[in-house]
Amino acid sequence: MNKLVIEGGIKLNGEVKVSGFKNAALPIISASLLAADKCVIENIPMIKDVYILKEIMESMGADVQLSNDGVMTIDTKNVENCITPYELAKQLRGSYYLAGAALGRFHKGEVTYPGGCDIGTRPIDQHIKGFESLGAEVKINHGIINCKAKELKGSKIYLDLVSVGATINIMLASVLAEGQTIIENAAKEPHIVDTANFLNSMGANIRGAGTDVIRINGVEKLHGCTYSVIPDQIEAGTYMMAAVATGGDVVVSNVIPKHLEAVIAKLREMGAEITEYDNSVRVNASKELKSINVKTLPYPGFPTDLQQPIAVLLSITKGTSIITESVFEGRFKYVDELKRMGANIKVDGRTAVIKGIDKLSGAKITATDLRAGAAFVIAGLIADGITEIDNVEHIDRGYQSMETKMKNLGAKITRI
Ligand code: EPZ
Repeated sequence: MNKLVIEGGIKLNGEVKVSGFKNAALPIISASLLAADKCVIENIPMIKDVYILKEIMESMGADVQLSNDGVMTIDTKNVENCITPYELAKQLRGSYYLAGAALGRFHKGEVTYPGGCDIGTRPIDQHIKGFESLGAEVKINHGIINCKAKELKGSKIYLDLVSVGATINIMLASVLAEGQTIIENAAKEPHIVDTANFLNSMGANIRGAGTDVIRINGVEKLHGCTYSVIPDQIEAGTYMMAAVATGGDVVVSNVIPKHLEAVIAKLREMGAEITEYDNSVRVNASKELKSINVKTLPYPGFPTDLQQPIAVLLSITKGTSIITESVFEGRFKYVDELKRMGANIKVDGRTAVIKGIDKLSGAKITATDLRAGAAFVIAGLIADGITEIDNVEHIDRGYQSMETKMKNLGAKITRI
C-alpha cells in the first residue's frame, strides 16, 4: 500500500503539463477492437486504468505496445472473441466499453460487470436498452454481461437520462450495424466527440457527436488509423483548483480551454484571475476568495468529477457555499475524511453546505475514490502540518505522475 505524505503551506508556482484524457483513452482503446487492423493512439495517459485495459486486450489476443511517451499501438487482427478476465475487468468502469465494441465486431461478448469508483449505484440499464434496440439479447449472470445478436440493425434510441457510458457504448455497438442509428438525449462530453472522431478516422460515419442527437450510419468495415487523445480537462481542473487553493500562480498547459468553460467561470466567480491562451490557462489567486454555489451537471455544466476538488477549495473560503451533486447520488462519501481535517461540511442527500474555515489541519486520511484522492492532495497542500493519504492506488488509476507534477510546482509531497 502506497501513501502520500504532504507538508502543507506552500504556494504552487510554475507550469504543469496535462496528460491525455483517461475517460477518452479508455473508450478509444476499446474501440480499436472494431477494426481487425492496427491503430496507433497517441497522448495515452500513463495510468493504472490504461495498464489494466491493455492487459485485458492482450488476454483476448490483441498485440498491444505502449511506449514511455504514451503512444499505444494496438493490433486486434488475431482477436476472435471478447471474454474479459474477471479479476482485471472488475477493477475499472471503462471495461464496459468492450461490450459495445465486441457486440459491434463479433455480434457477441462476455464482459465482466464493471467496477470503478464507489460513488453511487451506477446502473447500466441504458446501455442494455441501446444494445437490445439494435437487436441484441443481453443477459447478466454471475457478474458477467453476456450479449449476442444474430444481426445488428440501426434503430432510434432515446436515453432516459444523459449517460456518457451509454452514449459511447451504443456508438460502439452501432457503427457496423445495418442502417442508421439515432441516439437522442445523448451526452455531449468532449470524450464523446473524441471517441466519435476516432471511430470516423477508422472509417465510421457518425454525425452530431457533441450535440444531443447523434446519427450513426452503419458501414461494412473499419480500418486502422493514427489518432491523438484530447487532453484531460479533469486533470487540468484539478491543478487549477490546487493553484487557487494554495494562492499560487500556475500555468496549466496542453489543455483545450473551451472544455474548461464551467470551471473557469466558477473559479473567476470566486475571485481567481484566469487568463486563457490557445493551449493553456494561467491561474493566479492572490486576492481573497468568495464563497460560491456549485451544481454538477452533464457537459457543458460543471463536471461531477471536479466536485470533490472544489469542495476542498470551498472548505477554506470565507462564507457559506452550497454544492449540489446532480449526477451521482453517492459522491459525498469523502466528506467524513475531510472532517478529520477540520472541514465544516454538512451533507443532506445530494446537497453539501460548506462553511469556510481559516485552515484545514493535517491528518491521516484515506482516499475513498479517484477524485476524492486528488481532492485530498489539495487538502494536504493547504493544511497546517503533515497530511498522510492512504489508498493512493485510487489516484494512480487516473492521474499520471501526480506527485511528480505537484513537486515540480513546489509542493512538498513524498510517496512512501
Ligand atoms: C463516466 O461514468 C465517467 N467514467 C465518470 O468518471 C464520470 O463521472 C461520468 O461519466 C459523468 O461524467 C468513465 O468515463 C470511465 P454516466 P459513467 O453513465 O459512464 C446514471 C472519474 O472520476 N446511469 O454518465 O458511469 C448513473 O448512475 C469517473 O473519472 C443510469 O441510471 O457515467 C449516473 O447517475 C467517475 N443508467 C448518471 O446516469 C445507465 O445505464 C450518469 O452516469 C447509465 C447511467
